[in-house]
Amino acid sequence: MAKKEIIDLRSDTVTLPTKEMMEAIKQAKLGDDVFGEDPTVNRLEEIAAKKLGKQASLLVSSGTQANLISLMANTNYGEQVILEAESHIYWYEVGGVSAIAGLFPKTIKSKKGAPNPKDIQAAITPKDIHFPKTSLICIENTHNRHGGTIITPQQILSISKIAKSNNLKLFMDGARIFNAAISLEVDVTKFTRNVDNLMFCLSKSLSCPIGSMIVGSNDFISKARKIRKVLGGGMRQAGIIAAPGIVALEKMIDRLRVDHINAKYLTNQLSKIEGLSIDQARVQTNIIMLKTENSRVSAQKVIKELEKENILALSLGKNTIRMVTHRGVEKEHIEKTVNVIANIFK
Ligand SMILES: Cc1ncc(COP(=O)(O)O)c(C=O)c1O
Repeated sequence: MAKKEIIDLRSDTVTLPTKEMMEAIKQAKLGDDVFGEDPTVNRLEEIAAKKLGKQASLLVSSGTQANLISLMANTNYGEQVILEAESHIYWYEVGGVSAIAGLFPKTIKSKKGAPNPKDIQAAITPKDIHFPKTSLICIENTHNRHGGTIITPQQILSISKIAKSNNLKLFMDGARIFNAAISLEVDVTKFTRNVDNLMFCLSKSLSCPIGSMIVGSNDFISKARKIRKVLGGGMRQAGIIAAPGIVALEKMIDRLRVDHINAKYLTNQLSKIEGLSIDQARVQTNIIMLKTENSRVSAQKVIKELEKENILALSLGKNTIRMVTHRGVEKEHIEKTVNVIANIFK
């Protein structure tokens, strides 16, 4: 480990592209994607649709843009959308759900990210002049604020039954859906077959520099393409973004296993430290939430002390610290992090 090396546990978004990705960018065949003429984008969109078991897909600039476009393509202005209370769409997307998509968000609390179908049923507005029409249910998989927890294919099926019986669409913010698939050792289509459409990110654990994919039916993706344009998201020679995306889908998924092993190792080591608590059952993928509530040391203080040792983590409120394992984090980094934290709590 180099002396001044930074151990960055803030997010898997900090991953840098691989050499193979940089080479793919250099070699990419390009065209104008607004005219549908970028061969590399077209290839990525085909590969993504096939891998996720849907008809079509669309490359967009970010996860936030993917969610916003998907919200808009699944609904009409003024309708109600059902969101899990800790969802990324609700917390971290600048209120675009209301400000731009014009939707009324109805939030549902859950224990580990999967809303209970009974609660969803209860949140659906009846036909009545006073209420906005409910048209969409969103789930998040894996669930970021719940600590990278997985909504299982069985849970998705139960939610989809409620969606179908009420004539609602079901969308999945699957920013980290491949983490879920690798963790449960199942094909990703097990997670996608019962949602109408979804998005996933290329730019998180899969190590791409930019990009997310929206995936769904041909009609849905045509609608999404038009909405992307009105939001200023039509890109020209976007093959330079798509090229590493192809490498990601072909080469970077299986290695997510390593991130999960590292997250478990970090969890095991940290849970031996008095003053810290981790709900180990929640560490299902690459996200770890540490609680400092039983200690006099605040999350901010821990983060400041870590920074002095070139270790970065995120505070999520007064007593919660988030750490994320990814391609830039190795066992020796974890060992150093554990030692530094153990000293802080001594
Ligand atoms: C679950 C989830 N959805 C959406 C996003 C948004 O992605 P982006 O940062 O690319 O806009 C994130 C980002 O961390 C996320 O964790």
